[in-house]
Amino acid sequence: MTRKIRQSAPERLRHEVSWTEEVPVTSLEFIQSFQLPKTVRIIDIGGGNSKLVDFLLDEGFEDVTMLDISGTALDRARLRLGDRAAKVKWVEQDITAFQPETSFDLWHDRAAFHFLTTGDQITAYLSIARDGVKAGDMRLLARSPISGLIGAAACRLSATTNGC
Ligand SMILES: C[S@@+](CC[C@H](N)C(=O)[O-])C[C@H]1O[C@@H](n2cnc3c(N)ncnc32)[C@H](O)[C@@H]1O
Repeated sequence: MTRKIRQSAPERLRHEVSWTEEVPVTSLEFIQSFQLPKTVRIIDIGGGNSKLVDFLLDEGFEDVTMLDISGTALDRARLRLGDRAAKVKWVEQDITAFQPETSFDLWHDRAAFHFLTTGDQITAYLSIARDGVKAGDMRLLARSPISGLIGAAACRLSATTNGC
């Protein structure tokens, strides 16, 4: 038993950090409250470590894009989803350099925005988000789990190389 815990703990700690939600209840409840058609375009910014994508697919959403600066985080999600990963568009990219080819009906960001710490980054993000969401139909969810801020600060150091 002790051996098992010792073996699994580091694995868990590597990617299940203080902000990790087993079920992203708050985001899901917001999204469900909009009663959107299943064909809407949804993008999750910095969603590589989140299980939101699993639940969006469960709900039947057909056009989901996951953007994260960390290829490692995206790989982990792809691995977890298995065959279902093919239903998702994957974008490994710094959000501040993102040039969307389409506009989205729903823009979701939980705990990625606060990684942007300079005025230029924040201005770029807001401009990209404004252009990336369908005019007159803006549904932008930005959440920041306060308890995760310390973890996020530490994670920022490694985000560009090996994810959080
Ligand atoms: C605190 S985690 C939040 C993960 C997930 N949204 C959740 O709710 O559990 C922040 C995520 O944002 C990503 N990230 C950080 N800076 C980014 C940037 N400039 N562009 C895109 N993704 C970024 C990190 O790689 C990480 O996956």
